[in-house]
Amino acid sequence: MKLPSAATGLFLGTAAATPLSLRSSTLNYNMAPPNLSTLPNNSLYETWRPRAHVLPPNGQIGDPCMHYTDPATGVFHVGWLHDSAGIAGATTSDLATYTDLNPNGGQAIVPGGINDPVGVFDGSVIPSGINGLPTLLYTSVSYLPIHWSIPYTRGSETQSLAVTTDSGRNFTKLDQGPVIPGPPFAANVTAFRDPYVFQNTQLDTLTSSQSNTWYTVISGGIHNQGPTQFLYRQYDPDFQYWEYLGQWWSEPTNSTWGDGTWAGRWGFNFETGNVFSLNEEGYTADGEIFGTLGTEGSDLPIVKQLTSIHDQLWVAGSVAKNTNGSVEFTPSMAGFLDWGFSSYAASGKVLPATSKPSTQSGAPDRYISYVWLTGDQYGQAEGFPTNQQNWTGALLLPRELKVQSLDVVDNALSREEGASWRVESNNTDAGTVELRTLGISIARETEAKLLSGKPSVEAGRTVSSAGVLPFQHSPESKFFVLKTNISFPASARQSGLQTGFQILASESEHTSIYYQFANESVVIDRSNTSAAAQTTSGIDSFTESGKLRLFDVLDGGEESVETLDLTIVVDNSILEVYANGRFALSTWVRSWYANSTEIRFLHNGVGQATFSNVTVSEGLYNAWPERA
Ligand SMILES: *[C@@H]1O[C@H](CO)[C@@H](O)[C@H](O)[C@H]1NC(C)=O
Ligand SMILES: *[C@@H]1O[C@H](CO)[C@@H](O)[C@H](O)[C@H]1NC(C)=O
Ligand SMILES: *[C@@H]1O[C@H](CO)[C@@H](O)[C@H](O)[C@H]1NC(C)=O
Ligand SMILES: *[C@@H]1O[C@H](CO)[C@@H](O)[C@H](O)[C@H]1NC(C)=O
Ligand SMILES: *[C@@H]1O[C@H](CO)[C@@H](O)[C@H](O)[C@H]1NC(C)=O
Ligand SMILES: *[C@@H]1O[C@H](CO)[C@@H](O)[C@H](O)[C@H]1NC(C)=O
Ligand SMILES: *[C@@H]1O[C@H](CO)[C@@H](O)[C@H](O)[C@H]1NC(C)=O
Ligand SMILES: *[C@@H]1O[C@H](CO)[C@@H](O)[C@H](O)[C@H]1NC(C)=O
Ligand SMILES: *[C@@H]1O[C@H](CO)[C@@H](O)[C@H](O)[C@H]1NC(C)=O
Ligand SMILES: *[C@@H]1O[C@H](CO)[C@@H](O)[C@H](O)[C@H]1NC(C)=O
Ligand SMILES: *[C@@H]1O[C@H](CO)[C@@H](O)[C@H](O)[C@H]1NC(C)=O
Ligand SMILES: *[C@@H]1O[C@H](CO)[C@@H](O)[C@H](O)[C@H]1NC(C)=O
Repeated sequence: MKLPSAATGLFLGTAAATPLSLRSSTLNYNMAPPNLSTLPNNSLYETWRPRAHVLPPNGQIGDPCMHYTDPATGVFHVGWLHDSAGIAGATTSDLATYTDLNPNGGQAIVPGGINDPVGVFDGSVIPSGINGLPTLLYTSVSYLPIHWSIPYTRGSETQSLAVTTDSGRNFTKLDQGPVIPGPPFAANVTAFRDPYVFQNTQLDTLTSSQSNTWYTVISGGIHNQGPTQFLYRQYDPDFQYWEYLGQWWSEPTNSTWGDGTWAGRWGFNFETGNVFSLNEEGYTADGEIFGTLGTEGSDLPIVKQLTSIHDQLWVAGSVAKNTNGSVEFTPSMAGFLDWGFSSYAASGKVLPATSKPSTQSGAPDRYISYVWLTGDQYGQAEGFPTNQQNWTGALLLPRELKVQSLDVVDNALSREEGASWRVESNNTDAGTVELRTLGISIARETEAKLLSGKPSVEAGRTVSSAGVLPFQHSPESKFFVLKTNISFPASARQSGLQTGFQILASESEHTSIYYQFANESVVIDRSNTSAAAQTTSGIDSFTESGKLRLFDVLDGGEESVETLDLTIVVDNSILEVYANGRFALSTWVRSWYANSTEIRFLHNGVGQATFSNVTVSEGLYNAWPERA
């Protein structure tokens, strides 16, 4: 990229040579921004950098993967693809603060070996693998390009092993060929990658395997048939051979769960499939089977990567044997793990009660998932000031996944088929049903630490006229958590109400976050989020939204609309909105002006809503205390 040599007059000297601590002082956030792509390298490093999120010291973060609890230390390891050149990682003892495994966030495994001359893609770890050591099963790449929309080059993706003997700083490749050397016989695949290792008692029983056998799903698809997961099981104690058990889950090309309302599209190809089992507390080996997965697709018959869809979904279902004896997974519900356009490639891991974070917090066995937030629209945000920022993307806050149960009124709202919940049981006398869905919430240690910032309580209020109303106590910074409950009268369902907040607000900018019954959505309107979007291409400003149904519930015998329970995390440019323990929507909010820190109540349309327990915790912690 050619960068103009003439300075725009808004910075002093050459920022590229400016020490880190002075970088941000060279820009004037009280004046309109220039075209940010014309600034010197590194000049925007601090501008939008988050404080409490996982990201490398610099460069690009890709898919999270390679997480595990080290059996020797109980410390949890989080990994991610880094700069398209292997996998880097960090450790955490509290799911809040992290320590890089290598200096400058360097990789623990890089491409360039005989099995992986051109790439190392996602892998997952057997914590006590070969010789009892953490053992990585990863996709070793020999040919590029690989994309579901083009014919597949044979041998592009194989699965290989690497083992660590130094607590995860280096995963050393075994001096041998791949352990899964290619897709099943004559399968014309769209992809064959992201092996995810797991244990499952239901599969042990169904396939007459020894207990605690390791399985792996490999994500991909078959040309002209559809996306699929290939299932394998461990054959020997050294993980040298993996026995193929079939395409345990396949969907037709470009199909949907239900009519697509609640769970996007299955698309043309599956990626980053995880499989795990949950109960209402968290993880259990014999619980209900869940998965998270990325789906790739396109709205257009003529496929261009630019118009690719990347949906970050979850699915639950049952396993059974076919008449021919092979194992089959059948979905019973599906939804979005995160509704954001940039949210994708989630990867999680079992976090045992005996791990360091859990012994400190008293948590039971859990399943913890990290979602990727691409920083440049999957590399397609043309003109994004990548060199000026010198980091791209982040991982979203760790999430605890579990089964969520809800007692709600038995009516058309709860009985909808093809949704992201299912009816577990009914109580005819009470006129209620028990629903099951996936519970999604910020990991408890992470949330507790986020809430340990400077607290302020905003008086609750009932609003009935349209408009905005500034908080008495707005934050002074762009680092805070906002929590509230909003309740609505039954009449709100038929109204055009939009109720929520404006955040990161000043005269010049604001981001609106509201719930609207019209399409049962949480909406993030970013059309006025950033003055920089007007001067710089690649700063996205489109509206994000996700569907959340507020059910009817019985409150002391009376029917009422379920309360909207909101947690909004603002970590400078990263916005995560969580609702009702089962909804997440994350996106970028790149405000420019220093004083865009106001919060305002927002209410549009006819009807009323009541905000209660409005609290702001300001500050957020530094997730990387050991970085300079
Ligand atoms: C916010 O900053 C802008 C730009 O410097 C300035 O014009 C405006 O007066 C400031 N607003 C407040 C409330 O201080
Ligand atoms: C800015 O960074 C890019 C990418 O690393 C590099 O190609 C370019 O030479 C740098 N420009 C300057 C002026 O250092
Ligand atoms: C890991 O160790 C092996 C064996 O010493 C070495 O060849 C390799 O370069 C190391 N990998 C990284 C990423 O440092
Ligand atoms: C595999 O699928 C691709 C894309 O549809 C097609 O071009 C190719 O002919 C197929 N190969 C075989 C062996 O069927
Ligand atoms: C996928 O399905 C959608 C909805 O039916 C349709 O609009 C789109 O054209 C399809 N895409 C392709 C590539 O067939
Ligand atoms: C078993 O049956 C399923 C469903 O009918 C089919 O998809 C699969 O290919 C069959 N497997 C074998 C090994 O024949
Ligand atoms: C990003 O930061 C690293 C470390 O400070 C530096 O080596 C690299 O040149 C920077 N890249 C750009 C594009 O400024
Ligand atoms: C309600 O539950 C009973 C069992 O408790 C079941 O027989 C019946 O089919 C259920 N009815 C509906 C409408 O789900
Ligand atoms: C919101 O309400 C739920 C129960 O309906 C409660 O568990 C939660 O603590 C409330 N949140 C706030 C911020 O008061
Ligand atoms: C910003 O500058 C870049 C680099 O000179 C240029 O390609 C781009 O078109 C400019 N964007 C706008 C919105 O002017
Ligand atoms: C809901 O409606 C808004 C417009 O008010 C739209 O921007 C958004 O995409 C819709 N969301 C869903 C999930 O349908
Ligand atoms: C507000 O918080 C208090 C104490 O934290 C709790 O008892 C009460 O139920 C909450 N009210 C609502 C409406 O969430």
